[in-house]
Amino acid sequence: MIANAFRRRLVTAALLWPAYSLAESCGRPTERQTEGPFFKPQSPERNVLVDGKATLLVTGRVLGPDCKPVPHALLDFWHADEKGEYDNQGFRYRGHQFTDADGRYRLETIVPAEYPGRARHLHVKVQRPGGRILTTQLYFPNNPGNQYDDIFRPELVMRMASRSAGSFDFLVTA
Ligand SMILES: [Fe+2]
Repeated sequence: MIANAFRRRLVTAALLWPAYSLAESCGRPTERQTEGPFFKPQSPERNVLVDGKATLLVTGRVLGPDCKPVPHALLDFWHADEKGEYDNQGFRYRGHQFTDADGRYRLETIVPAEYPGRARHLHVKVQRPGGRILTTQLYFPNNPGNQYDDIFRPELVMRMASRSAGSFDFLVTA
């Protein structure tokens, strides 16, 4: 009995090992979050969401299960405006783009206002070619709303080089 139990544990460890080695080598897969009530499909293809001066630049990469950059991955961003409202009639502050040959993306937009109950955030869907859609949200460091928003996760906070330049790498495993 004891030998069998030991053997079972060995088999279990072997099955789990690939997941553990992936996590140790390149970090945890990006966490999924609710898309909320304001997603609209068929956003225009563009990475500049603002007509005038952009007040926020977000850059980063999409990484696949092997932790290598994923070219031509889809990123569809949408977020609230300067008043914390979403454009549900048109496509203001909505747009999709594809990563370049190095798996990089670049978003030029504004810093969205907070709206009641939520920390300041950006919504995004990420999908590598042939992969499953990852729906998640990105947050801003030191935003007071992070303290009271139940959806907020520190793992999804962007690294900010300045108030207007954030970065985040997505790790998609599906
Ligand atoms: Fe939102």
